[in-house]
Amino acid sequence: MAQPADTPPHDSLDTLCARGGWAADFTTRPSAPPLYMTTAFDMHGLEQLEAVAAGTETGYIYTRDGNPNHEAFAADIAKLEGAEAGVACASGMGAMTAVLMTLLKSGDHVVSARVLYGRTSQLLNHLASAFGVHVTYVDGNHPDAFREALTPQTKLCIIESISNPLMEVADLPAIAKAVGHVPVLVDSTFATPCLLRPIEHGATYVFHSASKYLNGHGDVMLGVLVGPKEAIRRAKAMSSLFGVNTNPFEAWLGSRGLRTLPLRMERVSQTAAHIALFLQSHKAIERVYYPGLETHPTHAIARRLLTKGYGGMLGFDLRGGRPAVAALFRAMAEIIPFSPTLADARSTVSYPTGTSHKFITAAARAEFGIKDGLVRLSVGLECPEDLQRELAAALSGLS
Ligand SMILES: Cc1ncc(COP(=O)(O)O)c(C=O)c1O
Repeated sequence: MAQPADTPPHDSLDTLCARGGWAADFTTRPSAPPLYMTTAFDMHGLEQLEAVAAGTETGYIYTRDGNPNHEAFAADIAKLEGAEAGVACASGMGAMTAVLMTLLKSGDHVVSARVLYGRTSQLLNHLASAFGVHVTYVDGNHPDAFREALTPQTKLCIIESISNPLMEVADLPAIAKAVGHVPVLVDSTFATPCLLRPIEHGATYVFHSASKYLNGHGDVMLGVLVGPKEAIRRAKAMSSLFGVNTNPFEAWLGSRGLRTLPLRMERVSQTAAHIALFLQSHKAIERVYYPGLETHPTHAIARRLLTKGYGGMLGFDLRGGRPAVAALFRAMAEIIPFSPTLADARSTVSYPTGTSHKFITAAARAEFGIKDGLVRLSVGLECPEDLQRELAAALSGLS
């Protein structure tokens, strides 16, 4: 744009706009962590670039490689889990991609529990068919099955601490012992470090879909992986290379959510225990899956490992299968919505057969015990009596 003759070039409207947004003092420490919403970081010069890249000076270069908000979130999870380091990724699946790309190459072998979040199994199956990674699925309830499946090429064992959707609690100490030196990766999304710290029980890596409890408000896509420092350094490099890094705002929201995590986990554990008992006695329901119930197949393990509460997730089989599920979801739509996620502040229900586990065959679902009438309930922060009343009203319409 042409400048009027008396306006110095640096005062031009174009230049002011392009360089705007800065106050004289951006150094006063804010009470809440600042959000580093930036693509890159200005360098003082080539020496700084080289020093930061070499790791001899702390700092950041490019947000895909690292950003203070990513670091703050991941470092907090590492501390909470008792791990050396952590990396924040774009989603739980992003963190899973980062760890698998870090630890596996073609020809390597993975032993995995057969009941996993469906997309995790789908990713493993993809690595098997497209990249020649070998995967053996075993019954996660039998630690010896992990040992029996090991081969000299086994680089990793994978299990969920509380499985999705049957809420089976893994006997982590027994699995870690059974597989010896092979690293165990635990998806601890349902437990969170408030209820269980897998590394204390022999796990090497802990992974979370932080889109769930760690954030806790149903408004974020975020994942995190923690583990040994050197492996996490490589996972960060993989996260950047594959572009599965998160963005600063999601990490910032994750950090904000963390501040109330212990309170939320305590509350949902209490409410879910209350609701599980209520559902167990209801005639429209065939079976309830909650690790805190004595009737749950892994209750003894849960009592040993989940000493602070059994979590906010439960499943139940409705008599009447899929049509009954459809009717229940219609009846509850305005109050306990069908939402294919979990760990929101409000309670939600999901249908594993049609969402998280639709990627495995019907035969496999039947074998694993995932029935057509299975509903997954994510218990939220509502008043327990309100929830019970609402569930009772919706269920009464079925029988
Ligand atoms: C147990 C578990 N692990 C992993 C994931 C994947 O996480 P994300 O959706 O953040 O990619 C999910 C998502 O629902 C999950 O429930």
